[in-house]
Amino acid sequence: MLSFAFAAAFVPANGQQDTPYQEEHRPQLHFSPAEGWMNDPNGMVYFDGEYHLFYQYYPYATVWGPMHWGHAVSKDLVHWEHLPIALYPDKHGLIFSGSAVIDWKNTSGFGDGTTPPMIAIFTYHNMIGERTGRQDFQTQGIAYSNDKGRSWTVYEGNPVLPNQGVRDFRDPKVIWHEASGQWVMILAAKNRIQIFNSPNLKEWTFASEFGKDAAPQLGVWECPDLFPLTAEGSTEEKWVMIVSHGGGGPNGGSCTRYFVGDFDGQVFTSDYPVEQVNWLDYGKDNYAGVTWSDIDAADGRRIFLGWMSNWQYATKVPTGSWRSAMTLARTLELASTPTGFKLLSKPVAELTKLRGEHIELKETTIAGKEEIEMADAAKVELDLTFDLENSDSKSFGVELSNAKGEHIRISFDPASSLLIVDRSNAGKMAFSSEFPGLHYIPYGIDMKGGLTELRNSMKWQLYFDNSSLELFVDDGAIVVTDIFFPTENFDRIHLFAFDGAAKLKGGKAYQLNGIW
Ligand code: FRU
Repeated sequence: MLSFAFAAAFVPANGQQDTPYQEEHRPQLHFSPAEGWMNDPNGMVYFDGEYHLFYQYYPYATVWGPMHWGHAVSKDLVHWEHLPIALYPDKHGLIFSGSAVIDWKNTSGFGDGTTPPMIAIFTYHNMIGERTGRQDFQTQGIAYSNDKGRSWTVYEGNPVLPNQGVRDFRDPKVIWHEASGQWVMILAAKNRIQIFNSPNLKEWTFASEFGKDAAPQLGVWECPDLFPLTAEGSTEEKWVMIVSHGGGGPNGGSCTRYFVGDFDGQVFTSDYPVEQVNWLDYGKDNYAGVTWSDIDAADGRRIFLGWMSNWQYATKVPTGSWRSAMTLARTLELASTPTGFKLLSKPVAELTKLRGEHIELKETTIAGKEEIEMADAAKVELDLTFDLENSDSKSFGVELSNAKGEHIRISFDPASSLLIVDRSNAGKMAFSSEFPGLHYIPYGIDMKGGLTELRNSMKWQLYFDNSSLELFVDDGAIVVTDIFFPTENFDRIHLFAFDGAAKLKGGKAYQLNGIW
């Protein structure tokens, strides 16, 4: 895994190899590295008109290797510009996941007197320590930039947070806690979250732990996040904690869940037991996602992005010179429901910029298959509203397919109240036995409005790219992200209803323009 054997093959001068971004399976709507291996999004921070996206990056191969922080920026969360690699492994170790903040008050003293410094806070993974059987080989370090993230200085006092002997001690997310006037770091410590405080980002004091009594039903804790949100129509500020887990997802493998509760700057208390799992995404391909720091107060959004893969097969997916893409950026909102606060994920409004020609889908009854004729079915947004009350089909939904009979199908089965994504015949799958199959998503328990029985229609907002789908149900109450690899791009879209008819109240099908 940690071989440098590929080092000579490709040395990226600027993080971007000359590629037209038109290779087989290359996402056209999503961020992917020009070449090499990518996993988690890191250091997401907004500053001076730019959304920064750093990411776990191994430039010398398409499998995981010694981690760097790759870097890209966007002015609109949709189009990306590649920048040189920001952080390289150093004497303390590889650069694992972490976050970035703007130190507005220059508490760190790293500022140059003109602009507030951008500070990256990340995990050092010391390979020698790991190989020699130590437990304390993951520590936290910081680096700073005074030129909008273009160049970085690693702090000579690193590590700023040593390890007390916890094997998995990583992925710091740092926030400024306004009410208590201090920095807060939350990180994943094996099977729990640990919280630390600091006045200056250099000296950290242990504050509390969260989740340590949880039954170990899910894999190792990774990549946490913590932020405040207020539900529409409420005045109560709540705190949302996001945690990714190395296994045990709703459809297998890597997964991400969230808690809603309260936070006083030191201690997080969840509104519900740690055993109760709220999935941030029901698909298999949204991992290690966190949110942007320092979004302008005037904007006020909480914007999320995840890694669109799953450790079960991430290193084996059949892409060429690069591996993995990120999800679309999503706005997270809180909804107050009869069963407590729920997190909603919605595609960011900026994505509407990609819309080209569209087809108006009139109210209609579907029985069998109806084609939606798009010029390019591999770059499409579908917004559909189904009439649940007046549908008696046992299975209805959307199918993408090609002339080879490969297809990906998203359906709703009213009898079981399940949404189902079927990628069991979606093209290339032999690379992993964990890849093909049906993904089941319970419709109802997570609904914005409470119980399914109360609802008479269901809204789907669907984004299809060459090799991925993202489904947002009922304004983001349920999200499903799944990747696929047809041997020929899908070029047809059908609405279908089997065993009866389904009523479509209406909708739109947008051709989308690619981002590269
Ligand atoms: C999550 C993760 C993190 C770690 C990084 C290493 O995917 O395992 O916990 O920091 O990837 O690349």
